[in-house]
Amino acid sequence: MSLKIAPSILSANFAKLGEEVTAVTKAGADWIHIDVMDGRFVPNITIGPVVLNSLKTLNPPFLDVHLMIVEPEKYIDDFAQAGANLLTVHIEATHHVHRAIQQIKKLGVQAGVSLNPATPISSIQHILSDIDLVLIMSVNPGFGGQKFIPESLEKIKALDKIRKEKNLNFLIEVDGGINDQNAKDLHSAGADVLVAGNYIFKSKNYQQAIQALKSTS
Ligand code: DX5
Ligand code: ZN
Repeated sequence: MSLKIAPSILSANFAKLGEEVTAVTKAGADWIHIDVMDGRFVPNITIGPVVLNSLKTLNPPFLDVHLMIVEPEKYIDDFAQAGANLLTVHIEATHHVHRAIQQIKKLGVQAGVSLNPATPISSIQHILSDIDLVLIMSVNPGFGGQKFIPESLEKIKALDKIRKEKNLNFLIEVDGGINDQNAKDLHSAGADVLVAGNYIFKSKNYQQAIQALKSTS
């Protein structure tokens, strides 16, 4: 499968968010990655369904919504209605991840589950056939511009191995510290979607940055 690039708008200029989303869309972004933070699951606070709903009017490609919030089940309906194409919840943020997945799918939205760097793959082994995507965090969630944690590579390889052995179809997405230096290794390890915030939005040319991540594949 060809590698998808999902610019994370966390590193965009929030004073002109709409223009930024349009610019990365024109520059070849496959997905738009939206980081939702609540100041509880992670120390930072970002955006809610109102902003997502506004961005939807720009006709962006696939909206990939990463919920870094406790009790995500409370807000799944709102984000689905605001236009999310994929909703990813953290396994560490809910006691009832299976129920949350069912709730997402019932709304006609794709369902993903994310793992923090210290969370083992075994924590999701019994729900792998129920989900569309696993999001491997390669930094501790909360902020853009952090350094890639190298151990993430082994985790992706192990997950890809399970996917092949069990003949499953979920996508593997990786988020945090991704740049042109590690993109190739991540894709070879089994990643299908790479999230990149700083690498794209702090570059001078979004199209070149996206191409640089893709051409490593
Ligand atoms: C971190 C977020 C990431 C972040 C990635 O909590 O989930 O999506 O924006 O930013 P970079 O690519 O700068 O590490
Ligand atoms: Zn994210």
